[in-house]
Amino acid sequence: MNILSAFMISFLVAAVRCESDIDWNAHQWQAPLPTDLRGPCPGLNTLANHGFLPRNGSNITIPIVLKAINDGFNFESTNLIRSGAKLGLFTTDAEDSFNLNDLALHGTLEHDVSLSRSDFALGDNIHFNETVFSTLANSNPGVDFYNVTSAAQVLEQRLAEDNILNPTLINTVKEFTVRIVESGFYLSVMGNVTTGVAPKNFVQIFFQEERLPLEEGWKRSEVPIGDDNFNALLAGIKNASTWAPSGEVICPWIRIQPEGPVVVVKG
Ligand SMILES: *[C@@H]1O[C@H](CO)[C@@H](O)[C@H](O)[C@H]1NC(C)=O
Ligand SMILES: *[C@@H]1O[C@H](CO)[C@@H](O)[C@H](O)[C@H]1NC(C)=O
Ligand SMILES: *[C@@H]1O[C@H](CO)[C@@H](O)[C@H](O)[C@H]1NC(C)=O
Ligand SMILES: *[C@@H]1O[C@H](CO)[C@@H](O)[C@H](O)[C@H]1NC(C)=O
Ligand SMILES: *[C@@H]1O[C@H](CO)[C@@H](O)[C@H](O)[C@H]1NC(C)=O
Ligand SMILES: *[C@@H]1O[C@H](CO)[C@@H](O)[C@H](O)[C@H]1NC(C)=O
Repeated sequence: MNILSAFMISFLVAAVRCESDIDWNAHQWQAPLPTDLRGPCPGLNTLANHGFLPRNGSNITIPIVLKAINDGFNFESTNLIRSGAKLGLFTTDAEDSFNLNDLALHGTLEHDVSLSRSDFALGDNIHFNETVFSTLANSNPGVDFYNVTSAAQVLEQRLAEDNILNPTLINTVKEFTVRIVESGFYLSVMGNVTTGVAPKNFVQIFFQEERLPLEEGWKRSEVPIGDDNFNALLAGIKNASTWAPSGEVICPWIRIQPEGPVVVVKG
């Protein structure tokens, strides 16, 4: 390599860095190794596949996960994000960290009627399921974006599907809230937190490949996603949804242990 091309490459790298403060060279997508741990959350799996979280999916502390969500998604450490991260610790006996696969513990953060995973009672609640995801994938027909209206319709349709399939379905206000947050998440992180509009191809790559669609033109949100803009988006999705609790009633926010006591965190 001659000096001129070395200079041009470092100039290009600097220009790319300027754009978002993130060194994307150090955060390229890599498929997980067979020994790397992944879990039911496509967002955290994506952060691990890009090295914002440890690529092995292990020993994730609260500061590590908050920084990863901020760096990868420009999502601030809001009370909501901090609470979700702390709930992650309830899925493990470790003192101050969790592994991504721990999060599959049914009923803590993991929940029925996911956008991309089968219900716990129906089989594999960890890996991406194309049949489950087809409801979201096929929503908002005729246009190339998802929005608040389609996100609300998908929540209703997924619930109708699982109400038929799963007699042990858990659908309390907790599950509904988490599902709205997840919908707001893909609309804002893959799209625009202000308009609630996200390109379909970005959302599909995110769920299907657990990859940030950088090559396809995705950019980290230019505005930080924080309490005000995200809560407004959630309110829009909620307003567009009709929902009623159904199925088994179980106390929100519990730590279910096979042998140990059930710890009620917040009822
Ligand atoms: C996972 O990776 C992190 C950081 O890369 C490292 O600190 C940790 O020890 C690893 N955990 C395991 C179980 O290999
Ligand atoms: C890191 O994770 C591994 C695998 O789950 C576990 O055995 C080890 O105890 C963890 N280390 C710490 C410091 O938590
Ligand atoms: C995918 O989900 C559907 C619906 O929950 C289920 O019937 C099917 O068995 C799942 N497929 C796999 C491979 O787990
Ligand atoms: C979402 O997109 C659909 C299809 O273009 C449209 O009918 C609907 O009004 C949009 N919703 C919002 C809130 O803009
Ligand atoms: C979102 O859309 C609005 C309105 O089109 C635009 O002003 C804004 O720059 C977009 N981006 C973000 C990150 O909100
Ligand atoms: C709530 O939904 C109705 C239509 O169902 C719509 O007219 C109204 O603008 C929405 N309000 C907000 C705050 O999104």
